[in-house]
Amino acid sequence: METEKKRSSFTGKIGFVLAAAGSAVGLGNIWRFPYLAAKYGGGIFLLVYIVLAVTFGFSLMVAEIAIGRKTQTSALGAFKKLDKRFSFIGILASIVPIIILPYYSVIGGWVLKYLFGFVANNTVEMAGDSYFTGFIGSAGEPLLWFALFVGLTALVVLLGVDKGIEKVSKFMMPALVVLILFVAIYSMATLDGAGAGVAYYLKPDFSKFSVMTVVGAMGQLFYSMSLAMGIMITYGSYMKKDVNIESSAHQIEIFDTVIAILAGLMIIPAIYAFSGGDEAALAQKGPGLMFITLPKIFDTMPGGAVIGAVFFIMVFFAALTSSISLMETVVSIIHDKLKIDRKLCLLIVLGICALLGIPSSLGFSVWESFTVLGLSILDFFDFITNSVLMPLVALATAIFIGYFAKPKIVVDEIELPAENGGTGAKFKFKGLFEIVIRYVAPVFLVAILVSSILDVFGVIKI
Ligand code: PFF
Repeated sequence: METEKKRSSFTGKIGFVLAAAGSAVGLGNIWRFPYLAAKYGGGIFLLVYIVLAVTFGFSLMVAEIAIGRKTQTSALGAFKKLDKRFSFIGILASIVPIIILPYYSVIGGWVLKYLFGFVANNTVEMAGDSYFTGFIGSAGEPLLWFALFVGLTALVVLLGVDKGIEKVSKFMMPALVVLILFVAIYSMATLDGAGAGVAYYLKPDFSKFSVMTVVGAMGQLFYSMSLAMGIMITYGSYMKKDVNIESSAHQIEIFDTVIAILAGLMIIPAIYAFSGGDEAALAQKGPGLMFITLPKIFDTMPGGAVIGAVFFIMVFFAALTSSISLMETVVSIIHDKLKIDRKLCLLIVLGICALLGIPSSLGFSVWESFTVLGLSILDFFDFITNSVLMPLVALATAIFIGYFAKPKIVVDEIELPAENGGTGAKFKFKGLFEIVIRYVAPVFLVAILVSSILDVFGVIKI
């Protein structure tokens, strides 16, 4: 029985926050956030995102961590243990990382390609207008980089060298923040027309608001903070009882959001300048945005190849810590379900990566004309997880906690008295948490789920 197994735990608060931040901070912050912000109107997206992060993001994060720590098991078992009728939430949540990992690794492969490109001093070439489209448009090469990224992730998962990773993270994460800040300041200070881009990114323009801004921001929030997919439940199950859940959640949420905002500041004003302030063109850049913009910035810098290489090493590292947590999760899900050897589970996961990752990659080249609901294959997997499955899991979780298990189980876990091994701390945002979980989240999530699905089927245009 899963529950009888002695669970190892993180070493105190810093261990938990670091591990959770390692999972949360990744390509979602540096690659996905800026292109969504560019797509959904800049400042207005940023504003909506921040509001959702401190309300929804925070509430769901404390709820997931508390459920994990209370039940001492991963998502698959946690809901079942609390209420059999709701075990489907654990199953739904477990499907999400299985779909994300393969396409995440495709983007991880692109990062590796650029990393090696800078190391080889190909900066001028990489800054060229059609370099990126040429690269993803070639069928074979992106597949090799994808395989390398998956292989590296699998190697770490297999060898279990995550202790070492934790040590390196401690240094890499702050270094990444400093470098992002440096690139942001450099590009804003030196590029003509970047000022207007900064305004586009930071000043909300309410006329650009649409329901899709909220749908996009909400999906991004789940993705970026590793929510609504069982990860934080699993991490919570490893958290010691004397660690404060609320303040840990705040730290992860703030760290994750600050990195995303800075990444936007580094990329959006620059691409605004490069495209001569053409906002329509900006909105259409999509998943390639980071790969098109950054080499152009590095190309204008003295010593750009070195800075570019160092930068992409850090992005690669952030991506790797996230993909490791994804792969670990998927391996454990399969292991818990099929009760087979972990190595065999890893092989199955590699099979899934190939099955879903190869089409995601080829969707930009030989299978370009193949689209699902008008989306490329990679975008379709991204849509299904971020705009459908995660809101669904979040909705079911909110209803379950709000009306069946009751918010009290989360509150009690957070306020666990000292004599029971807890911190004895008060839950400061208890009021906000209860209102969000019981009222705001259910209404809101139903609305965004329905509208995003209707939008993609073309029933309504929002
Ligand atoms: N939160 C990660 C990011 O922003 O890149 C993505 C992610 C990692 C999602 C791990 C899910 C996960 F389990």
